[in-house]
This record gives sequence, C-alpha cells and structure tokens, in this order.
Amino acid sequence: MPTFKVAVLEGDGIGPEVVSSALKVLKRLEALSGFSLVFEKALIGGCAIDQKGTPLPQETLELCLRSDAVLLGAVGGPKWDDLPTDKRPERGLLGIRKALDLYANLRPAKVYEPLISSSPLKEEVARGTDFIVVRELTGDVYYGEPRGIFVQEGKRVGINTMKYTEEEIRRVVRKAFEIALQRRKKLTSVDKSNVLEVSSLWKAVVEEEARNYPEVELEHLYVDNCAMQIVRRPSSFDVIVTGNIFGDILSDEAAVITGSLGMLPSASLGDRYALYEPVHGSAPDIAGKGIANPIATILSAGMMLRYSFGLPKEANAVEKAVERVLHRGYRTPDIYSDGCIKVGTDGMTEAIISALEEVWADLS
Ligand code: IPM
Ligand code: MG
Repeated sequence: MPTFKVAVLEGDGIGPEVVSSALKVLKRLEALSGFSLVFEKALIGGCAIDQKGTPLPQETLELCLRSDAVLLGAVGGPKWDDLPTDKRPERGLLGIRKALDLYANLRPAKVYEPLISSSPLKEEVARGTDFIVVRELTGDVYYGEPRGIFVQEGKRVGINTMKYTEEEIRRVVRKAFEIALQRRKKLTSVDKSNVLEVSSLWKAVVEEEARNYPEVELEHLYVDNCAMQIVRRPSSFDVIVTGNIFGDILSDEAAVITGSLGMLPSASLGDRYALYEPVHGSAPDIAGKGIANPIATILSAGMMLRYSFGLPKEANAVEKAVERVLHRGYRTPDIYSDGCIKVGTDGMTEAIISALEEVWADLS
C-alpha cells in the first residue's frame, strides 16, 4: 500500500480547527481504503511570526519540500495587521507558493442544490453552477519587478509591474486545457487585451495552445465582462483560466455566488509540489468557538487525494459524503437556514465521517 507524507500547516484563526477535521476524515479513509498517510506539522503565518520571527520559517519550507503534499489551514489576523506588507502573515503564503512553484491554482465554484437558497443570486440563475477557476499563481503584478514606493521629484510614487513570460502563460494554460478535457470541455480565457500588452501575449499563447486541444470549446472574455457574466450566467462556465490578479478577484466573486465561502476548497499545483487549502481566510472573529465550517478544508483534502495521490475513488467518496450530509440538513452556522440541523465543527465532521463510511460501503 502506498504511503504519502503530508506537511500540515494549520496557520492562524480557525486554521487549526478546520485542518483537524480534515485530518480526521483522511484518517478514517486511510483505514477504509488501505493507503497510508504520515502527517507532520509546521508553522506558517502569524503563529510563525510569533514563535520564529518570520511568516515562513526555513524548517517549514524544508518540510514541504520533502513531503508529497501540503495541507494548509489559513493565515492572518488582526494581531498582525499593522505589520508592513513584507512582514505580514500573508507573506508566508506568497513565499510558499513561489518556493514550491505552485503555478496553477484551482478554485472550484459549485452551487449545491440543498444550499441554493443561500446564494445571493436568484435560484434559477444559480442552479447548476459548477465551474473551476484556474488562476495563475506565481507571476503577474504579485511578483513583477520593479515594485515599491519610491520618491520621484519629491513626491511618492507606488509601483508594481504586471509581467508574464510566454512560458509562464503556456504552462498554466495547458493545465487548464487538460482539466477542461476531463470535464465539460469548455474553456474561458480571461484577459484585458483591449488595454494591456501582457494580456495580448496571454491571448496569443492561449490561441497557440488551443490548436493542441481541438475538442475543447474556447472563448475569450475581457475581465470586466467576465465579472458580469459570472453573475448573469454562472452555470454556462466550465473552466476559466486567467492571470494571478484577475483570478484573485474573479475567484472571490465565484465563491460568493455558491452561498458560502466555507464550502470552497482549492488546490495549488506545480510540476513537483502541491498545496491544498480552503479558499476562506482565518476568520478570527469565530476562531476557537468550535463553529467554523470544516467543509472547504475537507474538500481540499479530497482534492489532495485526487491530484496528488491519484485516488479518484477516495476523492469521489469525500465529495459524495459532503453532499449527503447537506441533503440530510446538517449545517454549520454560516450555511444554516430554518428547519435544518445546526451543528458545530465537530458535529459536521462526525456527520461527514459517518456518511463517508456509508458511501464507501456503497462503492465497495
Ligand atoms: C487569496 C488571497 C491571497 C492572494 C492573499 C491573502 C495574499 O486573497 O489566496 O486569494 O491575494 O492571493
Ligand atoms: Mg483572494
């Protein structure tokens, strides 16, 4: 039986609570399926600043480099809000993405039928929404040089640089085409090529790559138009591929139409390493109260089974177990509505684990 080593970075706020839920689910599945997992914990974000003086300690990075996958909770909180940009907990996240070369960030946005009334969109618009944003994660204005606040002729000027090399575009675009092939074979590439040269290059590379994927239907949208179409016709999208900053913004928009940020997982993939984390943040206002929704982190662990360990049956079982508890009416406060069964983090985790046992028995 294969053994996989997982670096576990709980981070701040609700991070430790939701990661603990995901580990319980993985442990149960390990016993059911027969693969074997080794977990090792390390610090990242605010807790790492407090204990080690830096958001991404060297030993954390080394652990990630010798693991098969990384499971991350969340980083940040008000305690560290006054630190300068280059010392903040978020730097830990940006640093690890870059150090592991995690260039493709997959953010699925799925509207679950039992939760459809929590979507801010009309039900008939939201229904059936199931798409995935593939966001480039290691380039763009996030990392481009020069950057900084400089003084020119006695006045301050803030500078960031939007930059993509052709290869950076090509590798993420290929990943997106490959993912589209496994789904409904539709790809939307998002840019701002009516204004930006970087985007003209982006679009040209997408066109070049499209020749290798004739089965995939391709559309190009400007980012402003795409923002609009996501709320007008969300169920028409299958895979959206875009750069780092556009993807940051569009993936939050995609998240909110599903009804709860607490539901959305993510995977950040490179050619050698992979990191899995919920899309939501550290939610300091509810940290330690036992009410955080663990589903996004549990589904992130499911993505780990699929993309890092090649265990699609196990990944499907996790997704089915989550759907089953939602159908049964279990809800953490963030997704609660009248008539449902209100549970905390542990109650939701236990419900998912028992559904997982049933689903597994059905599949076996
Ligand atoms: C995200 C977040 C991060 C980003 C922040 C916390 C640095 O918004 O993962 O989307 O902008 O990438
Ligand atoms: Mg974001």
